[in-house]
Amino acid sequence: MTPHKTPAVPVLAIDGPSGAGKGTISRLLSRRLGWHLLDSGALYRVLAIAAMRSRLSLEDIDGLARLAGEVRVRFVSDEAGGERIELDGELVTDEVRTERAGDAASRLARFPEVRDALVQLQRDFVRAPGLVADGRDMGTRIFTDATLKVFLTATPEERARRRHKQLKEKGIDVSLAALSRDIAERDARDAQRAVAPLVPADDAKVLDSTVMSIPQVVDRIVDWLGERIDIPPVGQA
Ligand code: C5P
Repeated sequence: MTPHKTPAVPVLAIDGPSGAGKGTISRLLSRRLGWHLLDSGALYRVLAIAAMRSRLSLEDIDGLARLAGEVRVRFVSDEAGGERIELDGELVTDEVRTERAGDAASRLARFPEVRDALVQLQRDFVRAPGLVADGRDMGTRIFTDATLKVFLTATPEERARRRHKQLKEKGIDVSLAALSRDIAERDARDAQRAVAPLVPADDAKVLDSTVMSIPQVVDRIVDWLGERIDIPPVGQA
């Protein structure tokens, strides 16, 4: 696999464990900077949904890798700042966010063949004026020469609490205890897998957001980015 080369277009890599707030922070950063957004976790989730729909075993590595090369995923932003996700033309936005899809995604994300099949698709998201890339291996593998790499984290208790609140707001009722267990299991699987384990890149800035507000996290990252490149004046975050 050839390493990712220094992009003419700046890339901001945001990696970290489940529930650290990467999704929210990345979306706000992409709006504030006016940059494109890659939600790489959603790609793994959509692939998991596609596999379950075609009754493919989540252990069928060859089948999954083939499927990864075939699925057509589209992210469409609407005027209100919402986002729709389409799988082969069908709307899967809500299904993508379920714990079932997240769990299945983390199972198939263990396989190097599956990860390899998604590399180019992810790199194709780089487009001017810039890209905010949210995931687990954005800084360590997909965009090794990113302009700035941030490893965003928070304590497991805080991450479970945030996920719980987020799901509750969507009317999804899950117990906090069950969620904490799921998060711990997913963390362990993501951190211990042989390929692209969840670790900060050597040159990543680690940001523990446990006691920070969302705007504080966004501001801190924009400040760090501003130390490296000229960025547009502050807009709405
Ligand atoms: O971030 P999100 O919860 O949507 O990711 C779902 C799962 O997909 C993660 O638990 C992880 O196993 C996998 N993933 C990954 N590499 C990425 C993004 C997500 O392995 N870049």
